[in-house]
Amino acid sequence: MAFWRRIWQRDSEEVLASCTALDVGTEFAKALVFDIDGEGHGTVRGVGRKRQGLSHMQSGTVADIAAVVDNCAVALQEAEEMAGFRPRQVVIGIAGELVKGFTTTHSQERKRPDQPITEGELQKLIDNVQREALREAERAITWETGLPQVDVRLVHAAITGASIDGYALTNPVGFQGRHIKIGIFNAFAPLVHLGALQSVASQLDLELLEIVAEPYAVARVLGQDQVRQSGALFVDVGGGTTDVALVRQGGIEGTRMFALGGRAFTKSLADRLDLPFPRAESLKVDYARGLEMDQREAIAGIVGDDVRVWAAGVELVMEELSGGDLLPGRIYLCGGGSRLPEIKAALAAETFWKPMPFARPPEVIVMGPEIIDTVTDATDLLVDQQDVTPLGLAFQAIELQSTEDALDVALRRVLRAMKV
Ligand SMILES: Nc1ncnc2c1ncn2[C@@H]1O[C@H](COP(=O)(O)OP(=O)(O)OP(=O)(O)O)[C@@H](O)[C@H]1O
Ligand SMILES: [Mg+2]
Repeated sequence: MAFWRRIWQRDSEEVLASCTALDVGTEFAKALVFDIDGEGHGTVRGVGRKRQGLSHMQSGTVADIAAVVDNCAVALQEAEEMAGFRPRQVVIGIAGELVKGFTTTHSQERKRPDQPITEGELQKLIDNVQREALREAERAITWETGLPQVDVRLVHAAITGASIDGYALTNPVGFQGRHIKIGIFNAFAPLVHLGALQSVASQLDLELLEIVAEPYAVARVLGQDQVRQSGALFVDVGGGTTDVALVRQGGIEGTRMFALGGRAFTKSLADRLDLPFPRAESLKVDYARGLEMDQREAIAGIVGDDVRVWAAGVELVMEELSGGDLLPGRIYLCGGGSRLPEIKAALAAETFWKPMPFARPPEVIVMGPEIIDTVTDATDLLVDQQDVTPLGLAFQAIELQSTEDALDVALRRVLRAMKV
């Protein structure tokens, strides 16, 4: 697949100087144009946004390629004009219920612990992990779609950790020891979704540098120190989907998405107050801003009902992600849908966290661009939690470029050979 050919080429390519990040959201197509300095720090120079039509996306995935290309073109043009230049390359985010992100950890007992680990042995281990992960993703997606065979592709992969005899290592090659353990995060998606995004990029005349699972990008954007020690949960409430990512012990363990977001809240208001969708949308936004209005109580009731259903969805995926172990005491919240005050309140409520494996009441933090220091905004137009996902994508373009980790190099080599 073209994707892996690119990764392979990247080893010898010159460093990126500028790039575009494209977040093809259910509600908005968002574009960021940024440049990257010699130290690998990104600065946003232009931003653009275009609202998508109701039929253009289906809970996080492209439903109408031509319409989405048009919307993205508008957002892109705005961002490029503001920046005053046009990068050739783009990083696109992928989301939706059928994007499966999970970490597979594989332990193995070595027959000859006194022999140092070789490059070949490490690659064999990575290869085993990847094959097991692919089978697991195929099983999950086949089961959920109800189809006997779905073409599943690897979106991206990253090593989350390695150890020998409990001793954490950045590169196991050359070490002796008996128990070797390696964890790899993989995101898989049905070929149809990946293909749609590839078409969008090529019709926009951009070279697709990378497709990144959006919850992964969000969970990485805070920089390592903030999250590494104590771990965190990340919740991105968009228009059509809610994405949840779990970081524990330094690495991303898994991501889950479900098809419920801001649009569903607007739709309930439209149905129950008998309003056209755009009118219900502006009513919801005014309500969230705390503006004076006649129907405040009625709206609060409708939103309250929906947020309860939403919170039950979050509870379900967090339970599943926890795998029975303790969840971290911090929840970072982003996405436009999370501007409804009820969303934050729902996660902080005792009824929410009490039945779940939290050691203490989780601290719920709204993730504005001001707490992100991996990428700087020179436009001053990125103001709230709705802009976090595109910033995360921008940071992935940088992070993926700059990793020279020996383990990642070994991983890429295996992926090249596997041709997934
Ligand atoms: N001030 C606000 N108050 C309440 N809701 C808001 C506000 N601003 C935006 N929203 C909601 O946020 C949602 C869009 O958020 P966002 O841009 O993060 O979604 P998206 O990325 O396009 O969608 P997805 O991630 O699901 O594909 C819409 O449903 C919109 O109604
Ligand atoms: Mg989004």
